[in-house]
Amino acid sequence: MEIDWATLRRLRAGFLEGTAGQHDYWRSVSDLAQYDATFAQRIGWKWDFVLNDLNRLGWQPPAGTLLDWGCGSGVASRACLDYFGTPQTTELGLSDRSQLAVEFAINRAREKYPDLPVRAGFPETVDLLVVSHVATELAQRGFDDLNEIARGAQAVIWVEPGTFPASRQLIRLRESLREGFNLVAPCPHQNSCGLLAVGNESHWCHQFAEPPPFVFTDPFWAKFSQTMEIDLRSLPVGYLVLDRRPIEALPNDTVRVLGRPEILKPHVRLLGCGESGIREGIVTKRNNATEFRKLKKGRYSSLQRWQCDGQEITRLSSVSESSKPETDSAD
Ligand SMILES: C[S@@+](CC[C@H](N)C(=O)[O-])C[C@H]1O[C@@H](n2cnc3c(N)ncnc32)[C@H](O)[C@@H]1O
Repeated sequence: MEIDWATLRRLRAGFLEGTAGQHDYWRSVSDLAQYDATFAQRIGWKWDFVLNDLNRLGWQPPAGTLLDWGCGSGVASRACLDYFGTPQTTELGLSDRSQLAVEFAINRAREKYPDLPVRAGFPETVDLLVVSHVATELAQRGFDDLNEIARGAQAVIWVEPGTFPASRQLIRLRESLREGFNLVAPCPHQNSCGLLAVGNESHWCHQFAEPPPFVFTDPFWAKFSQTMEIDLRSLPVGYLVLDRRPIEALPNDTVRVLGRPEILKPHVRLLGCGESGIREGIVTKRNNATEFRKLKKGRYSSLQRWQCDGQEITRLSSVSESSKPETDSAD
């Protein structure tokens, strides 16, 4: 497919300027195809990160229907279907304020999963709700609607860019739904969000996904990066996964690392979220050279277990990554 850079620039400008929520910006099927081949692929890499995290936690989606709300070109539901397989899904519903988007996503899904029943709009009941990159486009009413839809689902996977405003939206949703749901990820605990505590106003919950390695040698992605001024190495992601079914509690020394570790000469500083709230931990070069080196090279998992002496992390173990294959980004 020939890339239409002007269309990509227009779409990106709307996303960055925050005007995308004001009107339906999908002007043609071609807009969706352009988006699907580029921005949606990057979003797919974020989904890979989230789904790998869920796999590592031993989480599986509930069997039944799947609703992709604000589906755009449909990358979120395809990422899930590719990752978990289609047999447990009885029907896929695709919903968006744009009819063009719904039609595009339906066609893509039918082409890819010919045996899966696919419909425009909502299934009769929603077992798994997936939402992706919609938060910043929603006014209060849209957010309330989505909250209600989530309330009716068995499980929810919501993935957003790892920005401050998106993180605050996810926290709002988390707090309004946590009574009826278990918090699967990224939170390693079921308490109220530690970022709401006084003193944590400047922090936000985000992690970093990694694009597949081929991206760094592929001439198309090099051109995309240069033309769109997007650093492909940096893929910040924010997410929230909720489930009504019981989940296994994590050991109470488990933390989720927020953002990137800060590398200093004598130590690495990490911001961790755990049962006792948000706290800083440091790994010193002197006392823990191996972990210090791994952190410095970016070789760490965002889910860790810490044993601490004061602020110093004396024993750090990464909860290991899973090795599931990549999803929709490859299609
Ligand atoms: C940035 S796109 C993301 C599309 C897709 N979920 C993804 O991750 O690639 C946001 C989508 O949300 C849709 N949208 C925005 N506001 C909406 C609303 N109030 N109700 C339904 N869909 C909405 C837009 O039409 C658009 O397709």
